[in-house]
Amino acid sequence: MAKKSAARYLCAECGYMSLTLVGRCPGCGAWGTLSPEAPAVMSGAAGWYAKAEPIASLDIVPEERISSGIAELDRVLGGGWIKGGAVLLGGEPGVGKSTLLLQACAFIAQSGRRVLYISGEESAGQLALRARRLGISEKNVDLLCNSDLLPMLEAASGYDFLVVDSVQAFRIDGESGWAGSPSQVRNVASHAAMTAKALSIPMVMVGHITKQGAIAGPKILEHMVDVVLLFSGERNSSHRLLRAEKNRYGATDELGIFEMSEKGLVPVIDPSRMYWGTGGSSDTPGVAAGVSLEGSRPLIAEIQALSCATPFPYPKRTARGIEVNRLQLLLAVLERRCGIFSRNSDVYVNVAGGLSLQDPAADLSICAALASSFRDLPIPIGVCFIGEVGLAGEIRPTTKSNLRLREAARLGFKAAVTSARDPAERPEGQSGFEIIKVGSVSAMLERFLK
Ligand code: TYD
Ligand code: MG
Repeated sequence: MAKKSAARYLCAECGYMSLTLVGRCPGCGAWGTLSPEAPAVMSGAAGWYAKAEPIASLDIVPEERISSGIAELDRVLGGGWIKGGAVLLGGEPGVGKSTLLLQACAFIAQSGRRVLYISGEESAGQLALRARRLGISEKNVDLLCNSDLLPMLEAASGYDFLVVDSVQAFRIDGESGWAGSPSQVRNVASHAAMTAKALSIPMVMVGHITKQGAIAGPKILEHMVDVVLLFSGERNSSHRLLRAEKNRYGATDELGIFEMSEKGLVPVIDPSRMYWGTGGSSDTPGVAAGVSLEGSRPLIAEIQALSCATPFPYPKRTARGIEVNRLQLLLAVLERRCGIFSRNSDVYVNVAGGLSLQDPAADLSICAALASSFRDLPIPIGVCFIGEVGLAGEIRPTTKSNLRLREAARLGFKAAVTSARDPAERPEGQSGFEIIKVGSVSAMLERFLK
């Protein structure tokens, strides 16, 4: 008797496959997302495959990148747009995704390339209004504003750059679900990415994010594209940060910094100066400067700490810009290795300017800010701190410390405290700059906060 082929049920959210139809996906926990999918049909006798000839080997010359014309964006992309590459740009509503892309379109159009901007969110009039505000008037940027995606993608042939704004705003006619539903998002993204590959042009699509900060829609969306960029910024600040979550063609630790101005997004050329001002001018207890490496770029960060006595048995630990677990670890090191007791105090830490620090080299500056607040003594003016702190209270050397020291000297710092094991030497031409090598956090406190 011929064996009956089993039906499979696939989750539209996460791609989980089940042999029975269930209401709740065991993979991601979403309700009502499983739907039957026809079993794959094997062609040829006994499912044997037709022979394919290799069409290229690894020694082919890769395509050149197309510069976006915006240095901060190029850096995060890893050198510019890639032909046939699909990029997903996510961010909160109003953060400036459409503005950034319109500016990028204008730069590409200026080099004589033709650009197609497909919008499902705004009308051509609204886009033109924004372009006027940005001072852009490009004949080479064509607009298509509708919600049915396929006819617009068909119109993309002959263009050199494609923008799809946004993946949640379009529908594929004939497919079930409303615009923004998991299955529509998956189909829209896959058609857009296929168009980019077929035409061999760069394509960027905008993606909304959820309240938790992840890209909205099925997880598979992020697998379908080559690059995932996240654009973020504090609501009350004009600074905008661009990071790559995933990049098949470059590093993911580069950071692009912009300022939203009256005339659109302006790249910040000297971010250290923006985050630290004129360099070491604060004589308030609880403020310390650290040098964090964001990709290939060192950045002076201002760490602020505040400790405040509390009568409650469970004191608060609140951190913005660093992880709370890291704050707790450093407080434990300060207590056990340096005798700074925090058990009766609420502790708050903030990294100024909305920066978020992952670099372990910021540990020492966080410890310095915390100890300065607990002892109510300011850190000497013009001193910054570079080093990872271990559980034994030792200061460990960091990567690329020469780069960090040069940045500190350039910004006018007089001295940097680093690990005793750090081989770094004084940056050239900075004879007034001192490198103070210290073995442990307690030795650092002994010297600066006594
Ligand atoms: P927008 O690009 O529409 O955001 P998104 O596409 O991410 O939703 O940006 C809109 C915000 O940016 C809006 O709050 C106004 C502000 N903005 C400026 O401050 N300056 C400008 O030149 C432009 C075009 C927008
Ligand atoms: Mg928009």
